Amino acid sequence: MNILVLGGGGREHAIGWALAKSPKCEKLYMAPGNGGTAGIAENVAGLNAEDGAAVLAFAQEKAIDLVVIGPEAPLVAGVADVLRAAGIAVFGPSASCARLEGSKSFSKEFMLANNLPTAEYGAFDAEADALAYLDNHAAPIVVKADGLAAGKGVVVAATDEEARAAVKDAFGGAFGEAGARVVIEECLTGPECSLLAFVSNGKAFCMEPAQDHKRAYDGDKGPNTGGMGVYSPVPIVTEDEMAAMKDIMARAAAAAVAGEGSPFDMDYRGCLYGGFMLTPQGPKLLEFNARFGDPETQVVLPRLQSDLVDVMLAVAEGRPEDVELAWSDAWAVSVVLASQGYPKAYEKGKVITGIEAAEALPGVTVFHAGTKVADGQVLTSGGRVLNVTALGDTFAGAREQAYEAAALIDFEGKQFRTDIGGKALQGRSAWE
Ligand code: AMP
Ligand code: GLY
Repeated sequence: MNILVLGGGGREHAIGWALAKSPKCEKLYMAPGNGGTAGIAENVAGLNAEDGAAVLAFAQEKAIDLVVIGPEAPLVAGVADVLRAAGIAVFGPSASCARLEGSKSFSKEFMLANNLPTAEYGAFDAEADALAYLDNHAAPIVVKADGLAAGKGVVVAATDEEARAAVKDAFGGAFGEAGARVVIEECLTGPECSLLAFVSNGKAFCMEPAQDHKRAYDGDKGPNTGGMGVYSPVPIVTEDEMAAMKDIMARAAAAAVAGEGSPFDMDYRGCLYGGFMLTPQGPKLLEFNARFGDPETQVVLPRLQSDLVDVMLAVAEGRPEDVELAWSDAWAVSVVLASQGYPKAYEKGKVITGIEAAEALPGVTVFHAGTKVADGQVLTSGGRVLNVTALGDTFAGAREQAYEAAALIDFEGKQFRTDIGGKALQGRSAWE
């Protein structure tokens, strides 16, 4: 089979890596890909992944049998719709489905209409109405830009002043169009947990849970990032919580094929990401994403024993009866190596050494995020540079191995958290 993966981050390297392991994958293209995917696929630099017509033309020219869409932007732009209308199998939901990620107010309406537990909220198109809501709802409270804001549109406000400032920022244009509508939510507490599911024809096949670390610095300090490290499974999740999250994902998948005439008739085919908070009242949804998580994918897919080509093709073609998932019992821990300054301004073009030595350690795979290859050298080209993933028989062992591997890799300004998985090792009390 000829397969095209859209995207160029650590998530896409992990997806491409898992697809390339399949004997069914004959030719793999990645657009744009990165310095790591160059070793397993043909990188296509000139293709705009958000331009449906251009992606379709490429897919037809190269006789692509399956297109896998990694990031949210092409999904929201309707690239899956264009390809599907032309008869090409696509792993990735339609633009209509992608509103579950692309519009927080739509997502909340979907959750409420289907009794999926989530924070109480209000949605506002005018600053005065949002401020009036804050008069009656005290901090701590969460203010969110409705649209896609690259993870920057959420403010967890500790004080009323912060909340009011966040509302004014959003309506003042800080997030562009994404902030023209604002969602204000009750502030939930507890550990977070990501549960991703393959969804097709109303059925959800949950993957193994993962836990991300969103803050930039040790001790969950500093600004929010795309994610600084992750592990799977999540030792602090109870069986009851796992069952509740799976039930929520199953009900969400079923609701997303509600039938013609329903606002939720979406024929979802792809990965549905449930972002949960494990509250004292049970797991509640913080958000849905219409794609794989980054960096969750970099610990979840290395534990998948099933053939990812089979799974993704069955999802894309609406054959949920053919989806079978088998998982390894190994623990996976992944540490992100970032550029100095990330998530704010950072320099690019630093020479990276030691990746081979790191990968020579048992159980270690280095997924590239922001890298490129030039003159035979691997250079930094983004904020998050590498994801150093280690598999081990124990959580502590996988964690040690990931850090040992991370220590072998060097580039100027290498920045990383030294406490990935630290709280989970201490147990649930670490969140209290
Ligand atoms: P989101 O983009 O909706 O996932 O929000 C980003 C982050 O903000 C989440 O990972 C949480 O850490 C935090 N967050 C979002 N919604 C809430 C909420 N209702 N209560 C507390 N924290 C939240
Ligand atoms: N790891 C968070 C996300 O992918 O949205």
